[in-house]
Amino acid sequence: MNITIGVADSSHLKFSNEICNMIEQASNIRGTGIAKREPDYIGAKISEGKAVIAMQNQNVVGFCYIESWEGQKFVANSGLIVHPDFRKTGLARDIKSAIFDLSVKKFPNAKLFGITTSLAVMKINSELGYKPVTFTELTTDDTFWKGCESCVNHDILIRTKRSMCLCTGMVCDPSSLQKINQKSTQKLLWTDFKKFVSERKLRIQLKANASPFLNKFYRASSSVLPIGDLIKNS
Ligand SMILES: CC(C)(COP(=O)(O)OP(=O)(O)OC[C@H]1O[C@@H](n2cnc3c(N)ncnc32)[C@H](O)[C@@H]1OP(=O)(O)O)[C@@H](O)C(=O)NCCC(=O)NCCS
Repeated sequence: MNITIGVADSSHLKFSNEICNMIEQASNIRGTGIAKREPDYIGAKISEGKAVIAMQNQNVVGFCYIESWEGQKFVANSGLIVHPDFRKTGLARDIKSAIFDLSVKKFPNAKLFGITTSLAVMKINSELGYKPVTFTELTTDDTFWKGCESCVNHDILIRTKRSMCLCTGMVCDPSSLQKINQKSTQKLLWTDFKKFVSERKLRIQLKANASPFLNKFYRASSSVLPIGDLIKNS
C-alpha cells in the first residue's frame, strides 16, 4: 500500500483541517461526542514535533499526537485516527508504536496513559505494555478531565466522582518495561487484559445487584458498551 509513517512536520500543517474532519466524523459515527479538535490545536502539535502522521502519496491516512499533564508526569497519545479505507490493516498499530517511541523519547520520565472504549486501542495498548487501571491511577490534572465534558457519558463520570466511567483506563510505565517485541508475549498481555475486563464486568454486576445507584450505572454501561461480549468475540 506504500504508506509512510513518521513524525509530522511543517509540511503537514496543511492537513490540520482534514485531520479534524476525520476525527469529528469518526466521533459522530461512534456516538461518543468526545473527540472534537480544532485545526489550530492540531497545527500546534505538528509544529511542536508532537504528532505522528501516516501518508499515502500526498494523502493523510492516519494521525495521532502527544499531550502531557501534571508537569509532564503523565503523557497521553490522543486523537488516534485511521482513514476508513485503511482500517484493519494494522495501520493504527504502527502509528501507536511510532507515537509510543516518540513519547518515550520526548518525555523519558513520564507514565503513558489513556482512556478508551475502543477495543482496537485496548488491544494495541496491551501489546505495547499498558495495563488496565482504575481512574485513581490516572492523572489528576483537571484540564485532562475537562476533555470528557463533551462526551455523552459525562454524567456517569460526575456521578462516580471521577472514579470510573464507560472508558477503560490504561497506564504504561516505560521505565519498568522491557520492549515487548515477541508476538507470544503480546498475546499473553492481551489474554491478561481480557481476563481483567471479564472480572471487572462481574464485579460491577455484583455491586449493581447490591445497590440501586450502581444498578442504574450498570444498566447504562452494559447497554452502551457490552465490552465483555465484544471481547468474547474477538
Ligand atoms: C480505532 C482505529 C484507530 C483502529 O485502526 P485500525 O488501523 O483499523 O487498527 P489495526 O488494523 O491496527 O488493528 C489493531 C487490532 O485491533 C483490531 N481491531 C481493529 N478495529 C477493530 C474494531 N472496530 N473492533 C474490534 N477490533 C478491532 C484488529 O483486528 C487488530 O487486531 P488483530 O491484529 O489481533 O486482528 C480506527 O478504527 C479508527 O480510526 N476509528 C475511529 C477513531 C477512534 O475510534 N479512535 C480511537 C479513539 S480512543
